[in-house]
Amino acid sequence: MRMVDLIRKKRDGLPLTKEEIRFFTEGYVSGVIPDYQAAALLMAIWFRGMDREETAELTFAIRDSGEKIDLSGIDGVRADKHSTGGVGDKTSLIVAPIVASCGVKVAKISGRGLGHTGGTVDKLESIPGYRTDLSEEEFIGVVNRTGIAIVGQSREVAPADKKLYALRDVTSTVDSVPLIVSSIMGKKLAVGDDVIVLDVKTGSGSFMKTEEDSRQLAEILVDIGKKAGKKIMALITDMDRPLGEYVGNALEVREAIETLKGRGPGDLREICEVLSGAILMLSGFAGTMEEGRTLAKQAVKSGAALRKLREMIEAQGGDPLVTEDYGRFGTAPVECEVPAAQDGYIAAMDTEAIGKASLLLGAGRNTMADRIDMTAGIRILKKTGDRVKKGEPVAVFYTSDRSRLDGAQAVYGQALTYSETGPAPRPLVLGTVE
Ligand code: URA
Repeated sequence: MRMVDLIRKKRDGLPLTKEEIRFFTEGYVSGVIPDYQAAALLMAIWFRGMDREETAELTFAIRDSGEKIDLSGIDGVRADKHSTGGVGDKTSLIVAPIVASCGVKVAKISGRGLGHTGGTVDKLESIPGYRTDLSEEEFIGVVNRTGIAIVGQSREVAPADKKLYALRDVTSTVDSVPLIVSSIMGKKLAVGDDVIVLDVKTGSGSFMKTEEDSRQLAEILVDIGKKAGKKIMALITDMDRPLGEYVGNALEVREAIETLKGRGPGDLREICEVLSGAILMLSGFAGTMEEGRTLAKQAVKSGAALRKLREMIEAQGGDPLVTEDYGRFGTAPVECEVPAAQDGYIAAMDTEAIGKASLLLGAGRNTMADRIDMTAGIRILKKTGDRVKKGEPVAVFYTSDRSRLDGAQAVYGQALTYSETGPAPRPLVLGTVE
Protein backbone atom coordinates (compact mmCIF):
# COMPACT_ATOMS: atom_id res chain seq x y z
CA MET A 1 0.00 0.00 0.00
CA ARG A 2 1.21 3.55 -0.71
CA MET A 3 0.11 6.64 1.18
CA VAL A 4 0.00 8.67 -2.02
CA ASP A 5 -2.69 6.32 -3.39
CA LEU A 6 -4.80 6.75 -0.24
CA ILE A 7 -4.56 10.52 -0.51
CA ARG A 8 -5.63 10.39 -4.17
CA LYS A 9 -8.51 8.03 -3.37
CA LYS A 10 -9.90 10.32 -0.67
CA ARG A 11 -9.18 13.40 -2.78
CA ASP A 12 -11.42 11.85 -5.47
CA GLY A 13 -14.21 11.22 -2.95
CA LEU A 14 -13.86 7.44 -2.62
CA PRO A 15 -14.25 5.64 0.72
CA LEU A 16 -11.18 4.19 2.41
CA THR A 17 -11.18 0.58 3.57
CA LYS A 18 -10.50 -0.55 7.13
CA GLU A 19 -7.05 -1.80 6.02
CA GLU A 20 -6.20 1.52 4.38
CA ILE A 21 -7.27 3.47 7.46
CA ARG A 22 -5.12 1.26 9.71
CA PHE A 23 -2.21 1.54 7.27
CA PHE A 24 -2.45 5.31 7.70
CA THR A 25 -2.80 5.46 11.50
CA GLU A 26 -0.11 2.83 12.13
CA GLY A 27 2.30 4.39 9.60
CA TYR A 28 1.77 7.88 10.99
CA VAL A 29 2.30 6.82 14.60
CA SER A 30 5.47 4.88 13.73
CA GLY A 31 6.86 7.82 11.76
CA VAL A 32 6.95 6.02 8.40
CA ILE A 33 4.29 8.39 7.04
CA PRO A 34 5.51 11.99 7.23
CA ASP A 35 3.50 14.99 8.46
CA TYR A 36 3.09 16.38 4.93
CA GLN A 37 1.32 13.26 3.66
CA ALA A 38 -0.81 13.00 6.80
CA ALA A 39 -1.73 16.69 6.39
CA ALA A 40 -2.74 16.08 2.77
CA LEU A 41 -5.00 13.19 3.78
CA LEU A 42 -6.57 15.25 6.58
CA MET A 43 -7.36 18.02 4.09
CA ALA A 44 -8.85 15.48 1.66
CA ILE A 45 -11.02 14.13 4.50
CA TRP A 46 -11.99 17.68 5.41
CA PHE A 47 -13.23 18.29 1.85
CA ARG A 48 -14.67 14.88 1.03
CA GLY A 49 -15.86 13.68 4.47
CA MET A 50 -16.16 10.06 5.54
CA ASP A 51 -19.21 7.81 5.68
CA ARG A 52 -20.34 6.29 9.02
CA GLU A 53 -18.41 3.08 8.42
CA GLU A 54 -15.16 4.90 7.65
CA THR A 55 -15.70 7.18 10.65
CA ALA A 56 -16.19 4.16 12.92
CA GLU A 57 -13.10 2.46 11.45
CA LEU A 58 -10.98 5.58 11.96
CA THR A 59 -12.26 5.78 15.56
CA PHE A 60 -11.35 2.15 16.25
CA ALA A 61 -7.97 2.54 14.53
CA ILE A 62 -7.21 5.54 16.79
CA ARG A 63 -8.39 3.59 19.87
CA ASP A 64 -6.15 0.66 18.91
CA SER A 65 -3.12 2.80 18.03
CA GLY A 66 -1.76 2.55 21.58
CA GLU A 67 -2.37 1.10 25.00
CA LYS A 68 -5.76 0.82 26.64
CA ILE A 69 -6.21 2.09 30.18
CA ASP A 70 -7.87 -0.57 32.26
CA LEU A 71 -9.95 1.12 34.96
CA SER A 72 -11.15 -2.12 36.54
CA GLY A 73 -8.88 -1.38 39.51
CA ILE A 74 -11.14 1.57 40.37
CA ASP A 75 -14.23 0.65 42.39
CA GLY A 76 -17.51 2.31 41.49
CA VAL A 77 -18.97 3.94 38.41
CA ARG A 78 -16.28 5.58 36.27
CA ALA A 79 -17.40 8.57 34.26
CA ASP A 80 -15.95 11.10 31.85
CA LYS A 81 -17.22 14.20 30.13
CA HIS A 82 -15.87 15.75 26.96
CA SER A 83 -16.64 18.92 25.08
CA THR A 84 -16.33 19.32 21.32
CA GLY A 85 -14.55 22.60 22.02
CA GLY A 86 -15.53 26.15 22.78
CA VAL A 87 -14.40 29.57 23.92
CA GLY A 88 -14.33 30.13 27.68
CA ASP A 89 -15.42 26.53 28.14
CA LYS A 90 -14.00 25.60 31.54
CA THR A 91 -16.86 23.24 32.42
CA SER A 92 -14.65 20.16 32.98
CA LEU A 93 -12.86 21.97 35.82
CA ILE A 94 -16.22 22.47 37.55
CA VAL A 95 -18.27 19.42 36.56
CA ALA A 96 -15.57 16.83 37.34
CA PRO A 97 -15.13 17.88 41.01
CA ILE A 98 -18.90 18.29 41.46
CA VAL A 99 -19.72 14.75 40.36
CA ALA A 100 -16.65 13.30 42.10
CA SER A 101 -17.78 14.90 45.36
CA CYS A 102 -21.12 13.10 44.86
CA GLY A 103 -19.36 9.72 44.59
CA VAL A 104 -18.78 9.24 40.84
CA LYS A 105 -15.21 8.20 39.98
CA VAL A 106 -13.78 10.61 37.42
CA ALA A 107 -10.85 9.27 35.42
CA LYS A 108 -10.46 11.88 32.75
CA ILE A 109 -8.10 12.33 29.84
CA SER A 110 -8.32 15.84 28.45
CA GLY A 111 -6.95 17.68 25.46
CA ARG A 112 -4.92 20.80 24.75
CA GLY A 113 -6.16 23.88 22.92
CA LEU A 114 -7.35 23.18 19.41
CA GLY A 115 -7.85 25.86 16.76
CA HIS A 116 -9.47 28.88 18.41
CA THR A 117 -10.68 26.81 21.39
CA GLY A 118 -8.96 26.27 24.73
CA GLY A 119 -8.01 22.90 26.22
CA THR A 120 -8.43 21.62 29.79
CA VAL A 121 -4.85 20.35 29.96
CA ASP A 122 -3.39 23.76 29.10
CA LYS A 123 -5.67 25.37 31.68
CA LEU A 124 -4.63 22.94 34.41
CA GLU A 125 -0.97 23.56 33.61
CA SER A 126 -1.46 27.18 34.68
CA ILE A 127 -1.63 25.84 38.26
CA PRO A 128 1.94 25.90 39.60
CA GLY A 129 3.28 22.34 39.92
CA TYR A 130 0.20 20.57 38.51
CA ARG A 131 1.24 17.46 36.60
CA THR A 132 -0.89 16.40 33.65
CA ASP A 133 1.57 13.65 32.69
CA LEU A 134 0.86 11.01 35.35
CA SER A 135 1.77 7.42 34.52
CA GLU A 136 -1.15 5.00 34.24
CA GLU A 137 -0.38 3.65 37.70
CA GLU A 138 -0.26 7.15 39.22
CA PHE A 139 -3.47 8.09 37.40
CA ILE A 140 -5.40 5.12 38.78
CA GLY A 141 -3.82 5.64 42.22
CA VAL A 142 -5.02 9.27 42.34
CA VAL A 143 -8.57 8.28 41.30
CA ASN A 144 -8.62 5.57 43.96
CA ARG A 145 -7.42 7.99 46.66
CA THR A 146 -9.41 11.09 45.75
CA GLY A 147 -12.12 9.94 43.34
CA ILE A 148 -10.85 12.21 40.57
CA ALA A 149 -7.88 12.74 38.25
CA ILE A 150 -7.57 14.81 35.08
CA VAL A 151 -4.52 14.15 32.93
CA GLY A 152 -3.32 14.82 29.39
CA GLN A 153 -3.00 12.22 26.74
CA SER A 154 0.18 10.24 27.27
CA ARG A 155 2.25 8.99 24.37
CA GLU A 156 0.86 5.53 25.07
CA VAL A 157 -2.91 6.16 24.87
CA ALA A 158 -4.39 6.79 21.42
CA PRO A 159 -1.08 8.16 20.08
CA ALA A 160 -2.61 8.49 16.62
CA ASP A 161 -5.01 11.09 18.02
CA LYS A 162 -2.25 12.88 19.91
CA LYS A 163 -0.27 13.36 16.67
CA LEU A 164 -3.28 14.06 14.47
CA TYR A 165 -4.76 16.52 16.99
CA ALA A 166 -1.60 18.61 16.90
CA LEU A 167 -1.41 18.40 13.10
CA ARG A 168 -5.09 19.33 12.61
CA ASP A 169 -4.57 22.32 14.87
CA VAL A 170 -2.03 23.86 12.50
CA THR A 171 -3.45 22.72 9.14
CA SER A 172 -6.99 24.12 9.49
CA THR A 173 -8.55 20.66 9.48
CA VAL A 174 -10.24 20.68 12.87
CA ASP A 175 -13.86 21.34 11.91
CA SER A 176 -14.69 18.05 10.23
CA VAL A 177 -17.29 15.64 11.66
CA PRO A 178 -15.32 12.39 11.05
CA LEU A 179 -12.11 13.93 12.42
CA ILE A 180 -13.84 15.26 15.55
CA VAL A 181 -15.75 12.02 16.15
CA SER A 182 -12.71 9.78 15.73
CA SER A 183 -10.56 12.09 17.85
CA ILE A 184 -13.00 12.24 20.77
CA MET A 185 -14.27 8.67 20.71
CA GLY A 186 -10.90 7.13 19.76
CA LYS A 187 -9.38 8.32 23.03
CA LYS A 188 -12.54 7.83 25.10
CA LEU A 189 -12.79 4.19 23.99
CA ALA A 190 -9.13 3.58 24.86
CA VAL A 191 -10.05 4.32 28.49
CA GLY A 192 -12.48 2.02 30.29
CA ASP A 193 -15.01 4.57 31.59
CA ASP A 194 -18.58 3.29 32.00
CA VAL A 195 -20.35 6.62 31.47
CA ILE A 196 -19.59 9.37 28.95
CA VAL A 197 -21.40 12.71 28.72
CA LEU A 198 -20.60 14.81 25.69
CA ASP A 199 -21.07 18.55 25.51
CA VAL A 200 -21.56 19.22 21.81
CA LYS A 201 -21.20 22.93 21.21
CA THR A 202 -23.06 24.80 18.53
CA GLY A 203 -22.75 28.34 17.17
CA SER A 204 -20.12 30.82 16.10
CA GLY A 205 -17.51 29.71 18.66
CA SER A 206 -17.90 26.03 17.98
CA PHE A 207 -16.43 23.89 15.23
CA MET A 208 -20.02 23.13 14.17
CA LYS A 209 -21.71 26.43 13.39
CA THR A 210 -25.27 25.21 12.88
CA GLU A 211 -27.57 23.28 15.18
CA GLU A 212 -28.19 20.76 12.41
CA ASP A 213 -24.46 19.97 12.04
CA SER A 214 -24.04 19.80 15.82
CA ARG A 215 -26.96 17.38 16.14
CA GLN A 216 -25.48 15.20 13.39
CA LEU A 217 -22.13 15.23 15.21
CA ALA A 218 -23.85 14.36 18.51
CA GLU A 219 -25.76 11.48 16.93
CA ILE A 220 -22.64 9.91 15.42
CA LEU A 221 -20.70 10.33 18.70
CA VAL A 222 -23.49 8.71 20.72
CA ASP A 223 -23.99 5.95 18.15
CA ILE A 224 -20.32 4.93 18.24
CA GLY A 225 -20.27 5.08 22.06
CA LYS A 226 -23.36 2.88 22.30
CA LYS A 227 -21.90 0.36 19.87
CA ALA A 228 -18.87 0.17 22.16
CA GLY A 229 -21.15 -0.59 25.15
CA LYS A 230 -20.91 2.80 26.91
CA LYS A 231 -23.70 4.62 28.77
CA ILE A 232 -23.50 7.78 26.77
CA MET A 233 -25.48 10.91 26.08
CA ALA A 234 -24.82 14.25 24.41
CA LEU A 235 -26.11 17.69 25.24
CA ILE A 236 -26.14 20.32 22.52
CA THR A 237 -25.23 23.64 24.12
CA ASP A 238 -24.86 27.20 22.96
CA MET A 239 -21.51 28.55 21.84
CA ASP A 240 -22.78 31.63 20.02
CA ARG A 241 -21.16 33.67 22.79
CA PRO A 242 -18.25 32.78 25.05
CA LEU A 243 -19.13 30.79 28.16
CA GLY A 244 -18.70 32.72 31.38
CA GLU A 245 -16.72 35.94 31.63
CA TYR A 246 -13.13 34.83 31.10
CA VAL A 247 -11.14 33.34 28.22
CA GLY A 248 -7.51 32.31 28.80
CA ASN A 249 -5.86 29.61 30.85
CA ALA A 250 -5.19 30.86 34.40
CA LEU A 251 -8.13 33.27 34.10
CA GLU A 252 -10.47 30.37 33.36
CA VAL A 253 -9.18 28.24 36.24
CA ARG A 254 -9.85 31.19 38.56
CA GLU A 255 -13.36 31.50 37.18
CA ALA A 256 -13.91 27.75 37.66
CA ILE A 257 -12.83 28.10 41.31
CA GLU A 258 -15.18 31.06 41.76
CA THR A 259 -18.00 28.95 40.29
CA LEU A 260 -17.24 26.14 42.73
CA LYS A 261 -17.53 28.79 45.46
CA GLY A 262 -21.05 29.56 44.17
CA ARG A 263 -20.02 32.91 42.67
CA GLY A 264 -19.66 32.06 38.98
CA PRO A 265 -21.64 33.69 36.17
CA GLY A 266 -25.16 32.37 35.54
CA ASP A 267 -24.57 30.81 32.10
CA LEU A 268 -21.55 28.83 33.31
CA ARG A 269 -23.37 27.67 36.43
CA GLU A 270 -26.38 26.53 34.44
CA ILE A 271 -24.40 24.47 31.91
CA CYS A 272 -22.29 22.89 34.65
CA GLU A 273 -25.37 21.94 36.66
CA VAL A 274 -27.01 20.34 33.61
CA LEU A 275 -23.86 18.41 32.63
CA SER A 276 -23.38 17.25 36.23
CA GLY A 277 -27.04 16.24 36.37
CA ALA A 278 -26.60 14.11 33.25
CA ILE A 279 -23.49 12.35 34.63
CA LEU A 280 -25.14 11.74 38.00
CA MET A 281 -28.21 10.29 36.30
CA LEU A 282 -26.29 7.99 33.92
CA SER A 283 -24.05 6.90 36.82
CA GLY A 284 -27.10 5.89 38.90
CA PHE A 285 -26.65 8.57 41.59
CA ALA A 286 -29.87 10.35 40.58
CA GLY A 287 -33.16 9.14 39.07
CA THR A 288 -33.47 12.08 36.67
CA MET A 289 -31.30 14.87 35.31
CA GLU A 290 -33.24 17.35 37.43
CA GLU A 291 -32.51 15.34 40.58
CA GLY A 292 -28.85 15.21 39.52
CA ARG A 293 -28.90 18.97 39.08
CA THR A 294 -30.16 19.39 42.64
CA LEU A 295 -27.34 17.18 43.93
CA ALA A 296 -24.85 19.27 41.93
CA LYS A 297 -26.12 22.51 43.47
CA GLN A 298 -25.83 20.99 46.95
CA ALA A 299 -22.25 19.88 46.26
CA VAL A 300 -21.34 23.49 45.45
CA LYS A 301 -23.28 24.96 48.36
CA SER A 302 -21.73 22.61 50.91
CA GLY A 303 -18.19 23.31 49.68
CA ALA A 304 -17.68 19.59 48.89
CA ALA A 305 -17.02 20.21 45.19
CA LEU A 306 -14.36 22.86 45.88
CA ARG A 307 -12.68 20.58 48.43
CA LYS A 308 -12.62 17.85 45.76
CA LEU A 309 -10.88 20.16 43.29
CA ARG A 310 -8.32 21.07 45.94
CA GLU A 311 -7.68 17.38 46.68
CA MET A 312 -7.15 16.67 43.01
CA ILE A 313 -4.76 19.58 42.55
CA GLU A 314 -2.72 18.45 45.54
CA ALA A 315 -2.71 14.79 44.49
CA GLN A 316 -1.40 15.79 41.05
CA GLY A 317 1.45 17.84 42.46
CA GLY A 318 -0.16 21.28 42.14
CA ASP A 319 -0.40 24.11 44.62
CA PRO A 320 -3.84 23.75 46.30
CA LEU A 321 -3.55 27.26 47.78
CA VAL A 322 -4.38 28.70 44.35
CA THR A 323 -8.01 28.13 45.32
CA GLU A 324 -7.64 30.83 47.98
CA ASP A 325 -4.84 33.03 46.68
CA TYR A 326 -5.24 33.80 42.97
CA GLY A 327 -1.94 35.72 43.01
CA ARG A 328 -0.24 32.31 42.89
CA PHE A 329 -1.24 32.01 39.21
CA GLY A 330 0.80 35.13 38.43
CA THR A 331 -0.71 38.15 36.72
CA ALA A 332 -0.27 39.53 33.23
CA PRO A 333 1.83 42.71 33.29
CA VAL A 334 -0.18 44.38 30.52
CA GLU A 335 -3.89 45.16 30.85
CA CYS A 336 -5.97 47.12 28.35
CA GLU A 337 -9.67 47.94 27.96
CA VAL A 338 -11.53 47.48 24.68
CA PRO A 339 -14.13 50.23 24.05
CA ALA A 340 -17.55 49.78 22.41
CA ALA A 341 -17.48 51.09 18.83
CA GLN A 342 -20.99 52.60 19.04
CA ASP A 343 -24.14 53.02 21.14
CA GLY A 344 -26.67 50.18 21.04
CA TYR A 345 -27.16 46.53 21.91
CA ILE A 346 -24.60 43.84 21.21
CA ALA A 347 -26.58 41.86 18.65
CA ALA A 348 -24.08 39.06 18.04
CA MET A 349 -20.56 37.96 18.95
CA ASP A 350 -18.34 36.12 16.50
CA THR A 351 -17.12 33.82 19.22
CA GLU A 352 -14.49 32.13 17.06
CA ALA A 353 -12.95 35.57 16.49
CA ILE A 354 -12.96 36.15 20.26
CA GLY A 355 -11.09 32.85 20.68
CA LYS A 356 -8.62 34.05 18.05
CA ALA A 357 -8.17 37.39 19.85
CA SER A 358 -7.27 35.42 22.98
CA LEU A 359 -4.73 33.37 20.97
CA LEU A 360 -3.26 36.59 19.61
CA LEU A 361 -2.78 37.81 23.20
CA GLY A 362 -0.67 34.69 23.82
CA ALA A 363 -3.23 32.31 25.38
CA GLY A 364 -2.86 29.65 22.65
CA ARG A 365 -0.59 28.24 19.97
CA ASN A 366 -0.11 29.18 16.34
CA THR A 367 2.41 26.41 15.65
CA MET A 368 2.98 23.05 17.29
CA ALA A 369 6.06 24.40 19.08
CA ASP A 370 4.53 27.61 20.53
CA ARG A 371 4.60 28.21 24.30
CA ILE A 372 1.47 29.53 25.95
CA ASP A 373 1.35 32.70 28.06
CA MET A 374 -0.69 31.29 30.94
CA THR A 375 -1.77 34.67 32.28
CA ALA A 376 -2.97 36.01 28.91
CA GLY A 377 -6.62 36.25 27.94
CA ILE A 378 -9.78 38.31 28.01
CA ARG A 379 -12.39 39.39 30.52
CA ILE A 380 -15.67 39.85 28.68
CA LEU A 381 -17.63 42.68 30.23
CA LYS A 382 -20.49 42.86 27.74
CA LYS A 383 -22.14 40.01 25.90
CA THR A 384 -24.88 39.47 23.33
CA GLY A 385 -28.06 41.25 24.47
CA ASP A 386 -26.23 43.82 26.64
CA ARG A 387 -26.75 47.52 26.01
CA VAL A 388 -23.60 49.64 25.65
CA LYS A 389 -22.57 53.24 25.16
CA LYS A 390 -19.90 54.18 22.64
CA GLY A 391 -16.48 54.17 24.33
CA GLU A 392 -17.66 52.11 27.33
CA PRO A 393 -15.36 49.09 27.92
CA VAL A 394 -16.75 45.84 26.51
CA ALA A 395 -13.73 43.70 27.42
CA VAL A 396 -10.35 43.79 29.14
CA PHE A 397 -7.26 42.22 27.57
CA TYR A 398 -4.41 40.65 29.56
CA THR A 399 -1.03 39.79 28.06
CA SER A 400 2.68 39.70 28.80
CA ASP A 401 3.54 41.26 25.45
CA ARG A 402 2.28 44.78 24.67
CA SER A 403 2.97 44.33 20.93
CA ARG A 404 0.16 41.76 20.81
CA LEU A 405 -2.55 44.27 21.75
CA ASP A 406 -3.19 45.95 18.37
CA GLY A 407 -3.83 42.73 16.45
CA ALA A 408 -6.12 41.39 19.18
CA GLN A 409 -8.01 44.73 19.40
CA ALA A 410 -8.68 44.69 15.66
CA VAL A 411 -10.01 41.13 15.76
CA TYR A 412 -12.16 41.77 18.84
CA GLY A 413 -13.58 44.96 17.37
CA GLN A 414 -14.72 43.05 14.27
CA ALA A 415 -16.22 40.26 16.39
CA LEU A 416 -19.03 42.41 17.78
CA THR A 417 -22.18 43.39 15.85
CA TYR A 418 -24.36 46.17 17.24
CA SER A 419 -28.07 46.88 16.76
CA GLU A 420 -30.66 49.37 17.96
CA THR A 421 -32.92 46.72 19.48
CA GLY A 422 -31.91 43.76 21.65
CA PRO A 423 -31.65 40.31 20.02
CA ALA A 424 -34.07 37.49 20.98
CA PRO A 425 -32.72 35.44 23.89
CA ARG A 426 -31.33 31.97 23.03
CA PRO A 427 -31.47 29.01 25.42
CA LEU A 428 -28.17 27.62 26.70
CA VAL A 429 -29.15 23.98 26.30
CA LEU A 430 -30.55 23.41 22.84
CA GLY A 431 -31.13 19.67 22.91
CA THR A 432 -30.07 16.23 24.06
CA VAL A 433 -29.18 13.07 22.17
CA GLU A 434 -29.49 9.83 24.12
N1 URA B 1 -12.01 17.54 21.25
C1 URA B 1 -11.23 16.52 20.82
O1 URA B 1 -10.70 15.76 21.62
N2 URA B 1 -11.05 16.38 19.51
C2 URA B 1 -11.61 17.18 18.60
O2 URA B 1 -11.41 16.98 17.43
C3 URA B 1 -12.42 18.26 19.05
C4 URA B 1 -12.61 18.41 20.38
